[in-house]
Amino acid sequence: MSEQAKQRIVSGMRPSGKLHLGHLHGVLDNWKRLQDTYECFFLVADWHALTTSYETPQEIPANMDEMILDWLAVGIDPGRATLFVQSEVKEHTELHLMLSMITPVSWLERNPTYKEQQLYLKEKDLTTFGFLGYPVLQAADILLYKGQKVPVGVDQLPHIELTREITRRFNYLYRDVFPVPDALLAEVPKLPGLDGRKMSKSYGNSIFLSDPPKVVREKVSTMITDVKRPRMSDPGDPENRCIAFKLHQLYLPAEQLELIVSECRAAKRGCAACKKELAEAIILQLEPIQRRRKALAADSGKVRAILADGAARARKVARSTMAQVWSALWNQNAR
Ligand code: TRP
Repeated sequence: MSEQAKQRIVSGMRPSGKLHLGHLHGVLDNWKRLQDTYECFFLVADWHALTTSYETPQEIPANMDEMILDWLAVGIDPGRATLFVQSEVKEHTELHLMLSMITPVSWLERNPTYKEQQLYLKEKDLTTFGFLGYPVLQAADILLYKGQKVPVGVDQLPHIELTREITRRFNYLYRDVFPVPDALLAEVPKLPGLDGRKMSKSYGNSIFLSDPPKVVREKVSTMITDVKRPRMSDPGDPENRCIAFKLHQLYLPAEQLELIVSECRAAKRGCAACKKELAEAIILQLEPIQRRRKALAADSGKVRAILADGAARARKVARSTMAQVWSALWNQNAR
């Protein structure tokens, strides 16, 4: 039996700067796994960043640099996946404009993230045409590469649903050019930040992949543990109440976790000792990542070459797709 062509994956991230442990466990570990079984296209969504940061675009390039270093350092592999910057492949803008012709405004106004983000980012004026069209741009990202699976978090599901509707509409109006993509939801643990809320740069509760050991130790020591356990002599309930324990579960082997649970319940272990252990485990995990990051940061030519190569590979696919789009529109070589 001949080997079947690998299915295509498309995913992207807005360049928000340095990535944190939440990105590593929530997204990048998953991307790394997918590289083996799928043909992957991972893009730096700088146009998407511009939809909300159009007043401060000068921050975007540095944020891209930081994010790409993190991607490469954790093991997103340009030998197996195509990594590129969205704006370097001009076909994204072309397909975005084309798809905007067939996308009803009502679909976009109904999109929950449109209203949510306007409330959340109150200081920004997001009543723009570009921000309304955010999901159309995302649909273009996916369809240019005929993505079949799109790994995203639950917050992105409305955008994938819109992509599916736009895809069906295109295929119905013109010709069956695009597969209807599916979201690929990873089962990932919600990673709490230092304060117990979701780890997020905007909450200031993150441990960044590039944080040096000293910073990791400081941050972890401020972490909230079990609020019902002000003194060490109070018995704890790590599995149900302790935020630090949620992180411990990602880092420590089962036997060590069991020991922590029994000692904490018996009030035989203090939170400071526990957090010290956690900090060291995180530092150990970050060490090889930071080593690779440092080497890459010192070799900007290499990073540039990786991205140039990625854009060239992406462009080839994107051009071929656009040729099919135009021929479907002008009804050339009719089915
Ligand atoms: N909108 C996505 C986010 O904020 C990022 C993104 C841009 C994306 N283009 C994409 C995700 C294409 C999946 C596919 O997380």
